[in-house]
Amino acid sequence: MSAITLPETTLSMPTVSDIRADFPILDIEIHGHPLAYLDSTASSQKPLRVIEAMDKYYRQTHANVHRGVHTLSEEATAAYENARLRISRFINAASPKELIFTRNATESLNLVAYSWGRANLGPGDEVLITEMEHHSNIVPWQIICEQTGATLQFVPITPKGELDDEALDTLLSERTKLFAFTAMSNVLGTINPVKQLVERAHAVGAITVVDGAQSVPHLATDVQDLDIDFLAFSAHKMLGPTGIGALYGKRSLLQAMPPFMGGGDMIREVKMEGSRWNDLPYKFEAGTPAIAEAIGFGAAVDYLEDIGMDWVSSYEHEITDYAWNRLHEVEGLRVLGPGPDRRGGILSFVLGDVHPHDVAAILDMEGIAVRAGHHCAQPIHDHYCISATSRASFYIYNTKEEVDRLVPALSKAKALFEF
Ligand code: ALA
Repeated sequence: MSAITLPETTLSMPTVSDIRADFPILDIEIHGHPLAYLDSTASSQKPLRVIEAMDKYYRQTHANVHRGVHTLSEEATAAYENARLRISRFINAASPKELIFTRNATESLNLVAYSWGRANLGPGDEVLITEMEHHSNIVPWQIICEQTGATLQFVPITPKGELDDEALDTLLSERTKLFAFTAMSNVLGTINPVKQLVERAHAVGAITVVDGAQSVPHLATDVQDLDIDFLAFSAHKMLGPTGIGALYGKRSLLQAMPPFMGGGDMIREVKMEGSRWNDLPYKFEAGTPAIAEAIGFGAAVDYLEDIGMDWVSSYEHEITDYAWNRLHEVEGLRVLGPGPDRRGGILSFVLGDVHPHDVAAILDMEGIAVRAGHHCAQPIHDHYCISATSRASFYIYNTKEEVDRLVPALSKAKALFEF
């Protein structure tokens, strides 16, 4: 998840057509054209293995977890906990107890803000974020700083769309209690040097919160090597179902934190006078969890591991590089952010004076799905003095042929809307 060092692409094994055959939705047509799904940054598509794992669970295993001694409940609990184990290994957590299931990366970030933030922040403390954050890594910190009296600061970005290193040096101080930053921008695709940023934060005594929503699906992630304190990610952006995500946290930090939500399963004992909390990770999992979704999440991780995360990042780099060059053939098109060697498979762009919603609508008529808008990251658009962009994003099932369809469709949009 730090700077890109990409292995050689070996497209012989697996092949993209093998991968595409695993995704039933890729066979559909939109407005009479084969679907070209270039919106995986918003949400990825799902392979059969994930769909079937959830279907099988509901047909054969469903019962509530951690609550029963009957066979089905025990089987459901085993499947749920086994998914946790595989996902924790996928990011190389030291223990599955450090992997908390949440609804999504947004809830993971809110969990840290509310639980750790309320217990540890006060007047005179500073929380540092960056100008390239998704709203989910901005708004919770605004709320917590307002409630605790801490001060929120942000690292600006350079014209190339990277973190301003000199500003970071000035902003990081012994007052900084927490540094929250994205590993990969969902607008610019910028890959931040996570290991180095964590080291710099730790040098001033700050803890780190990494938004891995865009990086964990695409780059091999080793939380122990990176020495990350907290990492948030979502299943639905990495071939898994919606409604489930994860928070990784170092055990010592999680153990010292108060619960985020109260309810069943998160307690050891409840008396009318007060309650005692359950062990990790259950202290942070109040109520019946998303069991089928956890099983689907586990199947998604298995699928990615079978392909190999080196292959995933290498193939995406190849297609992004190709798309970067081809998009620049379109007159008046400007891609925001750094060059292909410093970014993941995300290309946000403006097309002359054509509104991004018009661009997306024309592309949709050609069967090409891209996202248009501010992508839940208004400050970064403010930085470029624009309100919206169009965004094409790539995953393991995209092809250069889809990029070849995108280019003339963009020229068509420009011709239609610009006079
Ligand atoms: N955060 C998601 C995106 O960037 C929804 O599109």
